[in-house]
Formats: sequence, structure tokens, C-alpha cells
Amino acid sequence: MSIPLLDLNRQYDSIKGEIKTAIDEVLESQYFIMGDEVKEFEDEVGAYCKANHAYGCASGSDALLLALMAIDLQPGDYVLTSPFTFFATAGAISRIGGIPVFLDIEKDSYNLDPKQVRRFMEGEHPVFKKLNPDREKIKAIIPVHLYGQMADMDPIMNIAEEYNLTVIEDAAQAIGAEYKGRRAGSVGDFGCFSFFPSKNLGAFGDAGLVTVKNEKLAEKLDILRLHGAKPKYHHSLVGINSRLDTIQAAVLSVKLKYLDEWSERRREIAHRYNRLFEEAGVSGELGDCSKSCVEMGGSGCSLNPNKIITPIETTGSKENNGRHIYHQYTIRSSNRDQIAKALSEHNIGHSVYYPVSLHEQECFAYLGYQPKDCPVSHCATKQAISIPIFPELKEEEIEKVVEVVSGAVKK
Ligand SMILES: Cc1ncc(COP(=O)(O)O)c(C=O)c1O
Repeated sequence: MSIPLLDLNRQYDSIKGEIKTAIDEVLESQYFIMGDEVKEFEDEVGAYCKANHAYGCASGSDALLLALMAIDLQPGDYVLTSPFTFFATAGAISRIGGIPVFLDIEKDSYNLDPKQVRRFMEGEHPVFKKLNPDREKIKAIIPVHLYGQMADMDPIMNIAEEYNLTVIEDAAQAIGAEYKGRRAGSVGDFGCFSFFPSKNLGAFGDAGLVTVKNEKLAEKLDILRLHGAKPKYHHSLVGINSRLDTIQAAVLSVKLKYLDEWSERRREIAHRYNRLFEEAGVSGELGDCSKSCVEMGGSGCSLNPNKIITPIETTGSKENNGRHIYHQYTIRSSNRDQIAKALSEHNIGHSVYYPVSLHEQECFAYLGYQPKDCPVSHCATKQAISIPIFPELKEEEIEKVVEVVSGAVKK
């Protein structure tokens, strides 16, 4: 038996007819750029996210770039964000000359730690002392809703209000996730979504979307994605070419109808994994592992090597009126390499999101970060490993994955 990390064919097989009809309609219209399907999808997904405004664009990376362009981020401005995320989060900041300020994550949720953000804004954080930023140039915070669970938004929004900062949610992995009953993309000033094919709502190529709270900024973003022109050929701004293709919008509209059903199935699978790992006797407790990991150069940890840590629902738990939508099911272990080896030997898909913390990436070396500046993130890069999760995953596959992972750590 081989078990993929993600099998998009199973999803496609279940909705093939509807998808082909939707694509055919676009082919018949030959209206490939900004066709009716784009606006229809923007309205549907905007309502789904409970957002005031929603605009399609070419990718999640462009969504972040457009949000930063909309607030006129200037070269030399600072944006606070998580180092434990896909590169695009910080890439967007750097692309327009901004300086990414990496602040550590919470060890249970893997999301940006609001306490670190507060310490930074109060000038007490070692990273503040290192960067010594001009306070006027600190402009925004980008919390990332990693693996499908929302960051702790209330304290982040409070800090943003106090210091007049814009909040841009990186919701690329979190469409439909909830925080205290509020949807991802509806809490901050902007929400940035990716419809990369492997995302919970995946297009047939690159695609993205930005949700916007404020009407004026929404109008600006709408123009920025169309070269800054409105009407056509009249440029009030220097924008970019970043549109959602009509064909992608048509595909996404079909899939959006199933998203809640798929997300609930992901949650069921995650909870099933939790239970089976518990029954196998390998579920452990998260202790204080970060210090030892940094001190030992990432080679050791105080985690029990015969246990794994299953995902912890913090903001995403039902009790907190939240919803983790399990874009990934990520476990952590000081025995990660052994787990990865066993999974490979049994042809079971797995992946490390992410092997290098952004504060340690070569391209940001000029900022002078040290591993110890974000120890929890550093530690997570040594221990996290994601295992198969997708709505069509079968019970026997779940059981097999648990058997292999448990066997690897019990050795
Ligand atoms: C957290 C995060 N931010 C941004 C992106 C960028 O999205 P895209 O690949 O659509 O450009 C991704 C996904 O790839 C992501 O996971």
C-alpha cells in the first residue's frame, strides 16, 4: 500500500463532471481575463470569509504584495511577522524593500506569539535592540495562520491599534478557519489567500485573493492588481498585473460549495489520528524544548524520543469557538529523521514544513539574526513533520500511518 501526502485525483474524480461543465462555459465565452466568473467567485468567497471586500489575484504571494502596496509600504519600512512560515510571507515584504522583523512563535500553535510582538513594540525585545528601528517606520504585522489554525488575533489587533499598525492576515493555509467565531481574513485589515492546487481550496494552477476591510483601501487594491489603471489606460497608480484567471475562478466556484464538507472531514481525520496515537501510547506532552535545541545546535532536545506531539488546538478548538481546518496534520518529535525514514520505507508521503526558519535564511543574513533570536521556531524546524491528510483519506490508510509512525518512535 502506498499512501500519498495528498491525492488530488480522488477529489477531482468526485467532481469531474461539474468542473468540466464550468470550464466549458468559460471556453465557450472565450472571456479568459476578468470574465463574469471572477466577480461571481469574489462575491461568493467574500461572503464565505465574512469579509467586506474580496479581490482575486494571481497567487497568494501576490495577495501579500498587493496588500503591502495598498498601504504604500516604502523601502526601509519594518513589518513584523513569523519566521516559521512559507517564504512568500517575508518575500513580499522584501520585494518592495521592506525589512522583515522576525519574532518568535508559540510552541503549541506554531503561530506568531503576541507576547513577542508586544515586547518588540515596547522596545524591550533583543531583536528591537539589534535592529534599532525608527519607530515611525514600523508599519504592519503579518500573522500567519499556519497549518489551518488562526493566530491569536485579539492581542495582535490590540497592539496594532495601540501603535497604529496595519494587520495583514496571511491566511494562505486557512480558508474557513475560525477564531472566536470570526473567519480567517475578516479580522485584520487585509486577508491574503492562496489557491495553490494543494491548498484546501485549490485551483488548477496559481491563484490567490485578498480580502479588505476598509472601502478606500479596497478600491485601491482593485486598481493596483490591474496595473493601477481605472479606467483602462488611465493610471493613477503604478500597479502590477495580478488577476485571477476566469478559468480558475470557475473551478474555484465549483469547489467552494464542497469546502465546508471537506474541512469537517479533515477535522475528523485529525481527531482520529490523535485518538489512535494516544491508543498506541506514543502521544507525549510538550515540555520546554526550545532552549536545548538551540544550545545543542539543533541536534538534541528534551522531548521524550519515544513520544510524538500531536497537533494542539489552541484558537482552533471548539471550546474556544474556533475551527482548525487542518491544512496540514503536523506532529513533532526529536526522532523526526527516524519517522521520515520509516514513512519513506513504507511509501507513505510526508513533508517538513519548514526545514529552515526564515530568520536563518541566507537571503536575510544581512539583517544579522542568530538562531537564538527565535528559538521556538528554530526548534520547530528540527522536529515538525507533516503526515497525510486530505478529505478522501481512508480509515485503513490512517491506521497504517499511525502504525508506521508509532513503530518508528517505539524502536
Ligand atoms: C503561509 C503561506 N503564505 C503565502 C503563500 C504563497 O501562496 P502562493 O503559493 O499562492 O503564492 C503560501 C503558499 O504557498 C503559504 O503557505
